[in-house]
Amino acid sequence: MGTKRYMITGGAGFIGANLVHHLRAVEPDAELLVVDKLTYAGNERYLEPSRAAIRFEKADISDMDAMRAIFDDFSPTGVFHLAAESHVDRSISGPADFIQSNIVGTFVLLECARELWLAEGATPGRFLHVSTDEVYGSLGPEGAFTEDTPYDPSSPYSASKASSDHIARAYQRTYGLDVVITNCSNNFGPYQFPEKLLPVIIRNIRDEKPLPIYGDGLNVRDWLHVEDHCRALKAAFDRGESGRSYNIGSENEWTNIDLVRLLCDLVDQELGRETSSQSLISFVTDRLGHDRRYAIDPKRARDELDWAPEQSFENALADTVRWYLKNFETIWGV
Ligand SMILES: NC(=O)c1ccc[n+]([C@@H]2O[C@H](COP(=O)([O-])OP(=O)(O)OC[C@H]3O[C@@H](n4cnc5c(N)ncnc54)[C@H](O)[C@@H]3O)[C@@H](O)[C@H]2O)c1
Repeated sequence: MGTKRYMITGGAGFIGANLVHHLRAVEPDAELLVVDKLTYAGNERYLEPSRAAIRFEKADISDMDAMRAIFDDFSPTGVFHLAAESHVDRSISGPADFIQSNIVGTFVLLECARELWLAEGATPGRFLHVSTDEVYGSLGPEGAFTEDTPYDPSSPYSASKASSDHIARAYQRTYGLDVVITNCSNNFGPYQFPEKLLPVIIRNIRDEKPLPIYGDGLNVRDWLHVEDHCRALKAAFDRGESGRSYNIGSENEWTNIDLVRLLCDLVDQELGRETSSQSLISFVTDRLGHDRRYAIDPKRARDELDWAPEQSFENALADTVRWYLKNFETIWGV
């Protein structure tokens, strides 16, 4: 078998950087190329543990000429596509970048992959499109999203991801491009830009600042450790069926308020505080179109990809708290 050459878009972001480190560990002979525009959310420092062993191209995935040149030069045998604008609140205040990067960017990559892999005599590669459970909209108190749940996105972010999923699926059905799609629940772990719930809360507890909680705090999210997600992405890449979607989650539902209370306890313990930081909790006006509950049914991933989460939630969360307390200053200067 020839050398594997994997292109990881968004590899300088939260999940992308974790995926790069994971791929280096499990497939050390593969050549890795990170393509990332380095928006506010991307940071080359996240890649430091693997930096000497990978290539990096600073480029915008929605720039067709730049992507064509990269595909021609690197000739990937696989693409792990993670680059996206990812923060729901930013998509509400300014949706344009979400349309450009998430929809146009995905189209450009699919088109480049089609030109390279479906040309006469070419060896086809695989395109893994990484998406979110937010495409399914909001759940009531019962049930969980399966891969057959109709798409019903609420925010400009989730609508842009839903759109990109449809385009990716269309390239498989129309042109026969080898595409696999994953839809994952909320991730936690190292390298998440400190605007998302977990790092924001950990930082504010450290600084004894108010802990903002949307609405009544009873919105439910299904939390998955990023390392388990990366293992699922590799499993979907290796064993997924072309044209199929796989929901990734660890059946670990938490209301926002309970999660924040747990974080207070963990940070207090870590900092040796005697009084509880839970008194800092402060309810703020709810997010527009805020989905009430997300929950993933991961049966297909378990059965067909032979994947199961391995991390214990509370241990992994405690490790994550320690990681941020140690790295806020060095990585983000906060
Ligand atoms: N974080 C989660 O909980 C979660 C859950 C499910 C799915 N996802 C999906 O996983 C992927 C990665 O999410 P994340 O949390 O790591 O996001 P992130 O915001 O931390 O990282 C995104 C990366 O993409 C890069 N990027 C953005 N626009 C680009 C463009 N036009 N060209 C090139 N690079 C660009 C950024 O610089 C950044 O490095 C996204 O597609 C997201 O929709 C995330």
